[in-house]
Amino acid sequence: MIDRATVDRIMDAVRIEDVIGDFVALRKRGSNYLGLCPFHADKNPSLSVSATKGIFKCFSCGKAGTAVSFIMDHEHLSYPEALRYLAKKYNIEIVEEEETAEEAAHRMKYESLLVVSEYAQKFYQVILWNTDTGRNIGLSYFRERQFTDETIRKFGLGYAADRTLSLHKDALQHGYKREYLVDSGLCIERDNGDLADRFFDRVMFPIYSISGRVIAFGGRTLSHEKTVAKYVNSPQSDIYDKSRSLYGIFQAKSAIAKADRCILVEGYADVISMHQTGICNVVASSGTALTVEQIRMIKRFTSNITLIYDGDEAGIKAALRGTDLILEEGMNVQVVLLPPEDDPDSFAKAHPRVEVEEYIAEHSVDFITFKSDILSRQSAGDPIQRARMINDIIRSISVIPDAILRTVYVETLAERFDQKSDDILAKIAELREKKRELDRSRERAERYTYTQDPGPQEAPPPGEADEPVVEEAPLTNSFLAAQERELAYCLVKFGFHQLFFPGQDASSQAVTVADYIRASLEQDEIKFENPLYRRIYDEFYSFAPSIKSGTVLERQEAMIKHFQDMEDRLIVQQCLDFVLDTHELKVKEYVRMLEPEEARLSLVVPRLVILYKKRIVEQHCARVTRSIAEAEHSGDMQLQLRLIGELQTFNKIKIFLSQELAKKD
Ligand code: CTP
Ligand code: MN
Repeated sequence: MIDRATVDRIMDAVRIEDVIGDFVALRKRGSNYLGLCPFHADKNPSLSVSATKGIFKCFSCGKAGTAVSFIMDHEHLSYPEALRYLAKKYNIEIVEEEETAEEAAHRMKYESLLVVSEYAQKFYQVILWNTDTGRNIGLSYFRERQFTDETIRKFGLGYAADRTLSLHKDALQHGYKREYLVDSGLCIERDNGDLADRFFDRVMFPIYSISGRVIAFGGRTLSHEKTVAKYVNSPQSDIYDKSRSLYGIFQAKSAIAKADRCILVEGYADVISMHQTGICNVVASSGTALTVEQIRMIKRFTSNITLIYDGDEAGIKAALRGTDLILEEGMNVQVVLLPPEDDPDSFAKAHPRVEVEEYIAEHSVDFITFKSDILSRQSAGDPIQRARMINDIIRSISVIPDAILRTVYVETLAERFDQKSDDILAKIAELREKKRELDRSRERAERYTYTQDPGPQEAPPPGEADEPVVEEAPLTNSFLAAQERELAYCLVKFGFHQLFFPGQDASSQAVTVADYIRASLEQDEIKFENPLYRRIYDEFYSFAPSIKSGTVLERQEAMIKHFQDMEDRLIVQQCLDFVLDTHELKVKEYVRMLEPEEARLSLVVPRLVILYKKRIVEQHCARVTRSIAEAEHSGDMQLQLRLIGELQTFNKIKIFLSQELAKKD
């Protein structure tokens, strides 16, 4: 951990125009700088850098951020890595923060496992190149597979020999702890306490983390015997979670970003041969079904994925499963099927780079074509099968988060299968509604194990209630999130500003926006539901006391700067959105008004708070209404009456809030 004071020192030293200027030629334009945006293929300079605000924004692709996030994105570094980069640039000494004993122990174990893995990689590599066994067996195997020496080195390949050259003996001699040899999975502890190597008689493929550290191994046997497992892989450990690793990601990441596309293959050998032929934006999920975490890892570099799987049945199945997951993450997916006798490894070896690239370009199909090709192969001429296939594709379209993209695919599908787009859209709406309903009931089950006593009042029988019927309000999270966003915006941008109320005399204590919001919410024990806005809320109030001096504007600036410099990327992004005015207070009536935003605060903030509370009550009402329907259905009269009582209370509160709101108009 880098301590706070060091972070502050780095942030103070950083001049964003310098930092970005190391990568992009910037020209001064007024108080800003202008250059070609490195995050997309920019033809006219659309990257604007504000030296005074310390932020950049591309007006073409929309990317925005601070010096730190620029370095993180451009150099593919984590937050602490980016800070270290900047510290180096500005000659600032890094002071590591004191850790607790537990943190230190955990970090030491983690570090130790990485260290022992790195040692093992070197050990296997030395055997491969520098021993007779290694050269005769391992190296000649790789050469037989036409891996060049350069390739073998690039991927750190090695050889685990037989028991005469065992890793554990050498490791113990060199002082590596037994505990770490076992916990890293390199060794196995026998029942009698003896240590044994996990890997022997195998060529070794080290698996690297995204930042290039060895975290695990895959060992391939050279034997053709059916009884010997083809691959032995490291087990899960503190440093290796296979569902969160991608083979080749370290060697491929900059090529992925540059090509704005990631090619996904199945095996170690496939990755290596593709790299060797000069196509480097390639990674493998290594024998596991593709996971959401792996897809998100790719998403850091590109939103385009091409799956190249074997044309056999297993490959097709894996590709079918992969496509839906990728679509659901809002990414674009293309599929390439190789000739049935080939895998990427053999194909890349048999063809020069241009031909491989041409083949990929010509045979890339979108998921609709892919699915319909596969499924119609299986269902030739059968109308029921055909309907099933179309439904299958509709289901895939329905998981795509972006509505516009969904519509595009609906058109494609309608055209290709001669269907009416309206019918397809209706089906998609139905599927999405079902999914929402499912999410909701899950959410409800988690959140509302509701036991609150509605109080002593006598509930009238149904029908005699004199309150208006509640309209159905959706129970989704975003229902409140919009209001929470408005309030978070007020805090970040205007928290230190003062509110003035009519009739307030000059001598009375002024109330700030932040005080007002906090008091109003705490009064009703309300906490933000949306995790992002909640973090912003909590951070505001925990940091505010440390900003003691300065004018209102200066203190507000200090707060904004604090948010911009935080590690949490989502907070930084949200805060930039607020500051860059992509946000506007959305309460309709006020948007049209012409005074500056500050002048409206005394009206807007109280109104927002009431509106937010009203929403919360509406959400309660909707929930209770549903419960009443369920109670009716199950015939539980007792419960029905209790719920109706509750509903009445909520309705009263709602009416009260509506009246308050009317007063503010
Ligand atoms: N795999 C595994 N265990 C096995 C078989 C396969 O972990 N018993 C994983 C490996 O990560 C392998 C991937 O699945 O890389 C794909 O399998 P396969 O195509 O059989 O392996 P290749 O890497 O292509 O190996 P080779 O070409 O040497 O047969
Ligand atoms: Mn293979």
